[in-house]
This record gives sequence, structure tokens and C-alpha cells, in this order.
Amino acid sequence: MENQNVLFTIFGGTGDLTYYKLIPAFYQLFLGGRLLNDMTIIVLGRKDKDTTTYRDEVREILMKKISNFNENIFVAFSAKLHYYKMNFEKPEAYEGLNTFMESKNCPNRIFYLATAPKFFPFISEQLKDNKLLDIEGYARAVFEKPFGYDLESAEEINATISDIFGEDHIFRIDHYLGKEMIQNINTVRFSNQIFSAIWNKESIDNIQITVKEKDGVKDRGGYYDHAGALRDMVQNHLLQILALVAMEPPKSLNNHGIREEKVKVLQNLSIETELESHTNLIFGQYEGYRDEVKVDPNSNTETFVAMKCFVKSPRWEGVPFYLRTGKGLDGGEAKIVIEFKVDGSSTPLNAEKIPNLLIIKIQPDEGVYLRINTKEPRSESNLMSVNLSYCQSCDIFYKSPDAYERLLLDILNGDTAMFTGWEEVKSAWELISEVVKKCPDKSKYLDTYPIGSDGPASAHRMIKMDGRHWWRLDDLNNDSE
Ligand SMILES: NC(=O)c1ccc[n+]([C@@H]2O[C@H](COP(=O)([O-])OP(=O)(O)OC[C@H]3O[C@@H](n4cnc5c(N)ncnc54)[C@H](OP(=O)(O)O)[C@@H]3O)[C@@H](O)[C@H]2O)c1
Repeated sequence: MENQNVLFTIFGGTGDLTYYKLIPAFYQLFLGGRLLNDMTIIVLGRKDKDTTTYRDEVREILMKKISNFNENIFVAFSAKLHYYKMNFEKPEAYEGLNTFMESKNCPNRIFYLATAPKFFPFISEQLKDNKLLDIEGYARAVFEKPFGYDLESAEEINATISDIFGEDHIFRIDHYLGKEMIQNINTVRFSNQIFSAIWNKESIDNIQITVKEKDGVKDRGGYYDHAGALRDMVQNHLLQILALVAMEPPKSLNNHGIREEKVKVLQNLSIETELESHTNLIFGQYEGYRDEVKVDPNSNTETFVAMKCFVKSPRWEGVPFYLRTGKGLDGGEAKIVIEFKVDGSSTPLNAEKIPNLLIIKIQPDEGVYLRINTKEPRSESNLMSVNLSYCQSCDIFYKSPDAYERLLLDILNGDTAMFTGWEEVKSAWELISEVVKKCPDKSKYLDTYPIGSDGPASAHRMIKMDGRHWWRLDDLNNDSE
């Protein structure tokens, strides 16, 4: 473990992300003995409260959220937590923050910006101008997603922050990359000859990446109505998953090796933007979205996207990658389905062969499923398909760490492998900006869908036109949706 005599300062310390994700993750790390004693956490907010009140709020949240809550552990953990009241938009407030930080006597500093991206450059500049970065040890900066609103804003943010911190000290969070099964993609692919040898267009028919959310926008309508599914989900989570699945084997599985290969995938990704024909890009909006709080009553923001893309490389030529994501759907689920080509050789069985599938389940359950063909018992010629299933999250003695636990530990250890590099962010924004530019008026092509459904019918028609269907886990034995 790296030196953790560190001061970890969170801007946005009274926000949902800090209360419900970061603090619980820190608590679990502490509980597991993975935080060293000399670490201090400062949470920053505008609200008028003190450290005691903040610790009490945190205790209540943890007691509700964490089944293994322990009061004695909490007392030891919360001694690390300090609340600091400050308006981070006021330059004159930073000197006082620096004095407060100096009183904690830590040589290393990590700044976590759990704020809207428009504040990233300003806060970074103030940290520099007010000498909060003039320290003995390292200064790292963590930036929450979304990293910008579009290519231009992302470039502006990046120009400022990379000047101030340097790329090696910047951690751009995409918390999906910290999820257990996302981290497992490389292992499943590269440590099994049965997959690594056939991870290509000769054997794979298509790849489907689905991230469904059951909830609507809840109280985040103000943010979401300006973002939409394309910016909020596709630009980061879905493209990151696609890049991991499609990348060439990296020279090494370290930070630089993986990033280098993921960037190449994103730079060679083509997304068709033919909205009218409904053949490769579908935008949807759940019924009732326009009545949500802080949403424009005439909003044309998409709450659902389905798209077909291709990676232009010898490995993937002609293999479609189907992506879909949305809110207000029939369940919260994330999975990757790799559909193999049907083996054309003859078998002693007469029945039609069903394609092999490799499914990586990301959430809510975590696991790997493999579907193969076998002979039906007691029959001479009937074929049936069976699922070989490994469900990691079904093990009652094992609980996967939350993505933030893993990512916080990586930040403390200075490991940037599971964070997005600037070139990846830039390439992803270039793709999304291109789509946005080509589809300026979504109103004519925005298909509505009932809340609790599996999205607009057009998303099914799109893939059906290619002679395929979205694979559904619940009824794999019954084949398809
Ligand atoms: N919530 C999630 O699960 C989640 C997941 C992924 C990414 N994110 C991203 O993370 C960021 C934060 O999300 P959130 O849900 O935590 O937002 P939030 O609940 O709206 O919290 C915003 C935080 O920013 C603080 N803040 C705003 N302006 C300030 C100022 N001028 N001076 C000092 N503090 C100020 C607020 O402090 P006061 O309330 O004390 O004023 C509050 O702590 C957003 O960009 C979001 O997109 C969130």
C-alpha cells in the first residue's frame, strides 16, 4: 500500500454522492482494515453545520444502509471525518481552507470534486493560486462524471486541470469501471483459451451491451433534462464497456496498456445516425417524463437510446455492437451478451442449433453464463440448450465490494488503470458530438414507451431487421424477448 498519510478533501461533501456512496465506501474500507490510521477526510459544503452534526448525519445513513454497522468501529472511523463550511465559488475562502488543512499536518493531498463539471476548472485554479498544491508530497485530483457537457466543454476543462495537476495525477471517475464484473472482463477473456482464441469476427456474430434503469429521473430532472441518455450513459459507461470488450490484447494489463488499446477502439468506432429509417439509432422517452419535476414540459430529451455501431478493425469487421440504455424500464440491469455464430458443421442431431452465448452479468446479479447445446436426455435426436452458470453474487459468504470502495483504494494507491484517460474521454465526446450534430431535431423521431416497459418497440424492430433479437436473461430457456 502506498503512503496514505493523506488529507482527502471532498468538494460536494453534503451531496448525495458523498453521503450515500463515498462515505459508506470509506467506512467499509476502514472496517476491512484497508485504510491506514493517518488518513484524514475533510468534507466541504455550504450548509451551516459542524463536524459533530455531520458525523451524526453520517451515522444515521450508515446505520440504515450497512448491515454490518458497528458503533465502536464507527466512532474510530468518524474521528477521521471533519466538516468544513465553505462556498467554493468564493476565491477568498481558499486561504482559510489551506490553514485548516495545514493544521492536519499531512504531506499528501487528494481533492475529490463531487460537483457539477462547470466548477472543475475554477476550483482547480483556486487550489493552485492559493497554494493548496504547494505541499511536500503528492497532490491528486479526482473528477466525477460527467466530464463536461460536450466536446468543447470537456476540452476546456481538461486544458485547465491537466496544466495544474498533470495527467498522471488526474483520476476521471466512471464508477462502472470499478464494478466487479467489469473488472472481470479482461480475466474472462484473456485467461480462457476457449474465449481468447475466438474473440473475433470469425466466431462472434454480434455483441449486445444493455444498461437498464428502473427508476425515472426522480429529483434529478434539472440535470438530466440537459443531458439525456446519450450524454449521461452512452458517452461514458456504455462506450467504456464496449472499449474494454473490443480492445486488442494490451501489451500489458497496466494503466497505460489498457488505456492505449481502449482509445484505439473508440477512435475506430462508427455510429450510424440514420434516425428516419429506424435501422441503427433509436431515441425514446418514457411516458410522463415531461411531467417530472424540473423537466421542460415540451422536452425532447431522450430517456432511452438504442444504437448499432461497428469497430473498424480487422478483428471486428462486420460485427455489430448493439447498445441500449434507458430510464423507467422494466428492471435495473446491466449485462454484456456475446452471441457466437452458429456452427455450420453437421451433427448427429437434426434440430436447429442455437447460438452459444457468453453473458457477463454486471448487476444486479454478478456472474458469467455460458449457453451450450446438448442432447435432450432420453431423446435420440432432440437438441436442447443449457446454461452453465456461475453466479458470484449468489454466494452468501461473499459480498462484492461497491465500485467506489475499489476506486477509492486505487486513488489512494495512485493506480489510474480503472479511470478514464483524457484521450478516451475526448474520443467518446467526439463520437457523441457527431451523433448530436447529425440529429439536431429529435422531436420527430422520439418514440415514447410506457414506464416499466422494456423500451420503445422500435428498438426491437431495429435489431429484428438484422435477423436478431435482444437476449433476455430471465427466459433464456425460452430464447428471446
Ligand atoms: N449522486 C450520484 O450517485 C452520482 C453518481 C455519479 C456522478 N454524480 C455526479 O457527482 C456530482 C455531485 O452529485 P450529487 O448527487 O452529490 O449532487 P448534489 O446532491 O446536488 O450535491 C451537490 C454538492 O455540491 C455542493 N455545492 C454546490 N455548490 C457549492 C458551492 N458554491 N460551494 C460549496 N459547495 C457547493 C453542495 O453543498 P451544499 O448542499 O452544502 O450547498 C452539495 O454538497 C454531480 O456532477 C453528479 O452528476 C453523482
